[in-house]
Amino acid sequence: MKILVAGTGFVGLTHAAVISEYGHEVYAYDVDEKKIAAYCSGDPKQIEEYVNEPGLSEIIAENLNRYLFFLHANDIENIIEGTDAIFLCPPTPPNPNGSSDLSYYLEVANHLARLLAKRHDQRRVVLINKSTVPIGTARRLEGVLKQHNVPNAGVASNPEFLPEGDAVEKSRRPDRVVVGADAEDDFKIIRRIYSQFVNHVRIRYIETTPETAEAIKYTANTLLLTYISFWNGVGARLGEAFPNIRMEDLKRGVTADGRISTWGSYVSNGAGGSCFGKDIQSLIYQFKSAGQPADLLQAVYDINEFQKVYLVDRAIQEAGANFNNRTVALLGLAFKQRTNDMRDASSLQVVNALLGRGVKSIRAYDPLAMNEARRFFNPDQNHLFERISYHNSPREAMQGSDMLFISTDWEEFRGLSRTIEQSVQPPYLVIDGRRMIPDYMELVERGYGYLAVGSPYLHKNASS
Ligand SMILES: NC(=O)c1ccc[n+]([C@@H]2O[C@H](COP(=O)([O-])OP(=O)(O)OC[C@H]3O[C@@H](n4cnc5c(N)ncnc54)[C@H](O)[C@@H]3O)[C@@H](O)[C@H]2O)c1
Repeated sequence: MKILVAGTGFVGLTHAAVISEYGHEVYAYDVDEKKIAAYCSGDPKQIEEYVNEPGLSEIIAENLNRYLFFLHANDIENIIEGTDAIFLCPPTPPNPNGSSDLSYYLEVANHLARLLAKRHDQRRVVLINKSTVPIGTARRLEGVLKQHNVPNAGVASNPEFLPEGDAVEKSRRPDRVVVGADAEDDFKIIRRIYSQFVNHVRIRYIETTPETAEAIKYTANTLLLTYISFWNGVGARLGEAFPNIRMEDLKRGVTADGRISTWGSYVSNGAGGSCFGKDIQSLIYQFKSAGQPADLLQAVYDINEFQKVYLVDRAIQEAGANFNNRTVALLGLAFKQRTNDMRDASSLQVVNALLGRGVKSIRAYDPLAMNEARRFFNPDQNHLFERISYHNSPREAMQGSDMLFISTDWEEFRGLSRTIEQSVQPPYLVIDGRRMIPDYMELVERGYGYLAVGSPYLHKNASS
C-alpha cells in the first residue's frame, strides 16, 4: 500500500514507522522543517530530540528511504498520486473554553483535498482520522472533500490508543484496532493496511461507524482518567484524613477483586500528558453543546487538576514549610516515566506554584526531559525561570537544597532514601507526589519530614 501520514509528532511518527515495518510504502510529512530534517538524518539523537520512545529511532533507521520517507508538507504534491490511504495526525489542542482546536486539522484536510482534487489516477483513497477529534469530525471531513470536488475518496476514523513511553510496543501489538467507516471499499483498504491484526486471536479488530469510533476514543480516555481520579479523590483522601491507613495495602486489598483494575490504582500528584486533560475537556464541551450534563466528567477533571499542585499548599499548612527564599530540589519533569514529554505535566504547575511562593532556586533533574524543560521554562518568556538550574543526577540536584519535591514516577527515584540520607541532613522535608519511597518510615525515624499523596505529614515527633 502507498500510505501518507500527515503530521509527524508522537502519534504520526510512531504510526508511520511501525506501518513501514509491515512493508507498506509510507510517506510521512510535516510543516516543521527542523523535525523533518532530524528524521531524514536517521540519527537517533536528532530524532529523540522530538520523539523519544524506546525502539522508535531503530525502526526509523532500518526503514528509512526503503519503506519510510519523510518530506515537507510543501513537497507532497508529487507523491500524492497513487496513494491508497492518508492518516491525519495533526495536533488537536484545547481552546480556552475546552473545545478542540481544529484549526491544524482543517488546514491539513483542506490542503489534502486541494491536492487530491487534481489527481490524475483517481483511484480510491481513504482519509483516516488518527488524531483525537470530536464526534462528527469524519463527517465534517467528508464535507471538505465534497467542497473541493475530490473524486473517489472516503473518510474513516481509526483512533490511536498508544500510551507514551510504550508507544512502539503498543503500536506493534495493540489491544484493539478500531475502524469507523461507511463504505466497504474503505474498510477493505484499511483491512489491507492492518492485515496482520484483522483475524488476530488477541487483538480486537472492530469495524463500526465513524461516530462510534470517535466516541470509543473519548469514552476510553475519560474512563481511564475517571479511574485515576477515583484513586486520587477517594484513596488519597482516605489516607490523608484518617490515621494509620497504609495506601499500598489499601490498593492491594481493593484490586484483589478481579473486577477492579490494578492499572491506575495509585495515588499521585495528577495525570498529565497531551491527552487526558484535553480529551476530557473536549467531551465536557461536546456534552454541553448537545445539552447533556457533564457533572461526572467535570468532577474527574477538577480532582486531577487539584492533585497537580495541592502538595505545595499541604507543605505550608501541614508541615509548616516556608518556601520563601528557599532552594527546592525537583526530581522529575516529564509527565510520566519513560518519556521526555512535558505537555500538561504536573511539574509545570509545581514549578509555577513554587516560584509564586518565592523560592530562591529550583534544582531540577529528569533522566530524559531536561532539554524539553528548557523549552517550557524559557527565561525569555518569564524571567523567574532563571531560578531553575538543571543537574545530572538526583544527588547533584539535592545538593544545597532545603526541600525535595518528587513529581514523576521514574523508576530510578524508587530507591531514593539512601541518596537523600547521603546528600542532605535532617530536618529536611521530602514532598513525594508519586509515593516513590517505600521505606519512608526509615527516613522519618532519622529525622526527615515526609509529606506524600495519600498520607498525613509524617515526622519524628508525630511518629514517636
Ligand atoms: N501523544 C499521545 O500519546 C496521543 C495518543 C493518542 C492520540 N493522540 C492524538 O493524536 C493527535 C496528535 O498528537 P501528537 O501527540 O502526535 O501531537 P504532536 O503535536 O506531537 O504532533 C503533531 C504534528 O503535526 C504537525 N502539523 C501541524 N500542522 C500540520 C500541517 N498543516 N501539515 C502537516 N503537519 C502538521 C506538527 O508540526 C506536529 O509535528 C492529537 O489529536 C492527540 O490527541 C495523541
